Amino acid sequence: MEKTLVIIKPDGVKRKLMGEIIKRYENKGFNIINAKLIKADKKTVKKHYEEHKNKDFFKELVDYILEDFIFVMIIEGENAINIVRTINGHKDPLKALPGTIRGDFANSLTRNIIHASDSKESSEREIKIWF
Ligand code: CDP
Ligand code: MG
Repeated sequence: MEKTLVIIKPDGVKRKLMGEIIKRYENKGFNIINAKLIKADKKTVKKHYEEHKNKDFFKELVDYILEDFIFVMIIEGENAINIVRTINGHKDPLKALPGTIRGDFANSLTRNIIHASDSKESSEREIKIWF
């Protein structure tokens, strides 16, 4: 059993996609074992995206996550880390396939609806940051 940290980003919450997104994880057999709807603080968001701190998109990304409510959850299940990222789809709208969350709902590289941990180390780190 793996745990992964998923965030429905502000555009996902504002566009009322929370139910749609949760349904996709639950349909796959995953369990949501913790969740909260919050307005994040800057320090937490910067820590979460620490690996990108020197990238040119960092400020735009942090400002975007801070602009409105986000829904943060821990999802648990077999191979949850990789499968949740497959369900989410590619960050680049030109590469995100139909049937994935990003492929179906996002057309922006920054405002791409969803975050999920990319490895066991990331999921442990991110769960500690948010919960
Ligand atoms: O979210 P994911 O792990 O798929 O992608 P990432 O490479 O770790 O980037 C984190 C987030 O930064 C993306 O989901 C986008 O929201 C944003 N990003 C961006 O705004 N511009 C880029 N050139 C790359 C990423
Ligand atoms: Mg990432």
